[in-house]
Order: sequence, then structure tokens, then C-alpha cells
Amino acid sequence: MRTIAVAMAKGGVGKTTTAVNLAHGLALAGKRVLLVDCDTQAQTTTFLGISPPHGLYEFITGHDGNGRTILKKEAIHSARQNLWVLAGGIKLVELKNWLGEQPREHRHAILHQSLAPKNNGLDYLIFDCAPGWDVLSVNILMAAKEVLCPVALQGPALEGLKTFFGYLVSVQQLNKSLRLKYILPTMFDRRTRQSHDIYNRLRRLFRKQICNPIHHNVRLCEAPVVGQSIFEFADSASGAQDYRKLAERLIDDGIRQQEHPRVL
Ligand SMILES: Nc1ncnc2c1ncn2[C@@H]1O[C@H](COP(=O)(O)OP(=O)(O)OP(=O)(O)O)[C@@H](O)[C@H]1O
Ligand SMILES: [Mg+2]
Repeated sequence: MRTIAVAMAKGGVGKTTTAVNLAHGLALAGKRVLLVDCDTQAQTTTFLGISPPHGLYEFITGHDGNGRTILKKEAIHSARQNLWVLAGGIKLVELKNWLGEQPREHRHAILHQSLAPKNNGLDYLIFDCAPGWDVLSVNILMAAKEVLCPVALQGPALEGLKTFFGYLVSVQQLNKSLRLKYILPTMFDRRTRQSHDIYNRLRRLFRKQICNPIHHNVRLCEAPVVGQSIFEFADSASGAQDYRKLAERLIDDGIRQQEHPRVL
């Protein structure tokens, strides 16, 4: 199973759009995917048009906050064929408080322990991270092996990246298997010089990690309004083509990794 955190401390760069459409793209390609919403805004589930009764809070604590025991399998919601979701939302505020109260020496590894693979039959575990940085962000990066970092090709994009890398390096000291695997340029507007400039700089800086850009596409903003992935809403839109390509790249990398484990 591959564990991928879609993460970037800066807000509004396309993390949820990427996590949801990548997860559904992989599911449509026949992979079994668990998508974890790590944000109090509950955007992941909103984007998919679902509102599960339980989620990550119950999955980790084992109860619903009102004294009722919740089994792990009850916390996981089936969202689409091959796609399951652990919902986030406002209860994650309580979860962060709870995590903060745990003994310092193991509070950062609690999510990792809860999710430890038990022949669950999953191919991908994808975390949709919240902006900012807190005890839950650390838990996610302790549980992940790969980071996919979306960078919006507008504004001071590279500054946000530098801050985020500082966080990443601090977690890598605790989780040695964590790798910055993908840099995903998002909201690429081919008409603006700024988009091209930032994209070219990213290509020079991250030769191995750089992905084909996700173009700015209004269909990607419209799809979540009706609770659909881009493949359900507008399968021939450029946004669908871009996210399909991204899913294919991840699948290809997985195959290569199995064939040549030391190359990647
Ligand atoms: N390629 C794109 N083209 C056009 N709009 C996009 C694209 N990607 C994302 N958006 C829009 O930009 C906004 C922010 O995207 P999204 O919610 O995915 O970012 P985020 O990084 O998850 O934000 P947050 O940090 O608040 O969690 C949304 O309205 C989304 O629909
Ligand atoms: Mg988001």
C-alpha cells in the first residue's frame, strides 16, 4: 500500500481538488483507495457530495465523543466504487486537543499506529491535509511515505514552499522513510507569464519530482458544487485529462518501483 500526503502549508493551492480527483482517478483505474480528510473544513466529503456520520475522529479515538464505541470499519465510509473515505470536519478540533494531551513521546505517531496495515486490501492511502501546521499535520507526515505537494502557479508560490520544506525536514528526522515525491503545479494559466515563470523555476529545482501541470479549469471549481469528481462532472474537460494523467503517473511509478526498488 502506498501512503501519500497531499500537503502544503499554504492555503488554497488545490490540495483538496487534487486529493479528491486523484483518489477518484485511481479508483476508476481499478485501484482500491482510502481518502482521509484531515481538515476541519470537511472539504473532502463536501467535494464528493457525502456526509458520513463518522470519520477520522472516531477511527482514532474509538468512540463518538458521546460514550458510544465506534469500530474502525464503522468510521470508514464507502464513497464510490473502490473509493472509501475517512471524514474530517469540526470534530478534528477535538481530535487535535486529544492528540495534544497524549504523552509527548508518542503523540506524533498515533495516526500511524491506528492505520498500521493489516492486510486491508488497499492500494493507496491518500491524505488531504489542511493548510497550516499542527499536531495532526505531524501525525499525517509520520504515517505517510510520500508527499505530493501542490504549488499554485500564481503569487509568491515559492515562498510558501520554502516554509513547508522546513516542516518536512523536521518530520523526516523522525520518519526516515518520508520522501518529497511529487511537486504538482496547479492552476496553470498558459496566458500569464507568471504561470510560465513559476513552472519553469519548479522544473529546474525539482527535476525528478515535477509533474505535468494541472491547468486552470473552471470545471474543477464547478464539480465540487454539485458533489462530483471531475470525472463524473466533465470527463472530457482539461481538468479531467490532467488528473487522469497524474493518476497514470502514480500507477506507472508504482510498477517501476516494484521492478526496480532502488531506482526511485
Ligand atoms: N486547476 C484549477 N483550476 C481552477 N480552479 C481550481 C483549480 N484547482 C483548484 N481550484 C479551485 O481553487 C479553490 C481552492 O482549491 P482547494 O480547495 O482544492 O485548495 P486547498 O489547498 O485544498 O485549500 P485549503 O488550504 O483551504 O484546504 C477551490 O475553489 C477550487 O475549486
Ligand atoms: Mg483543502
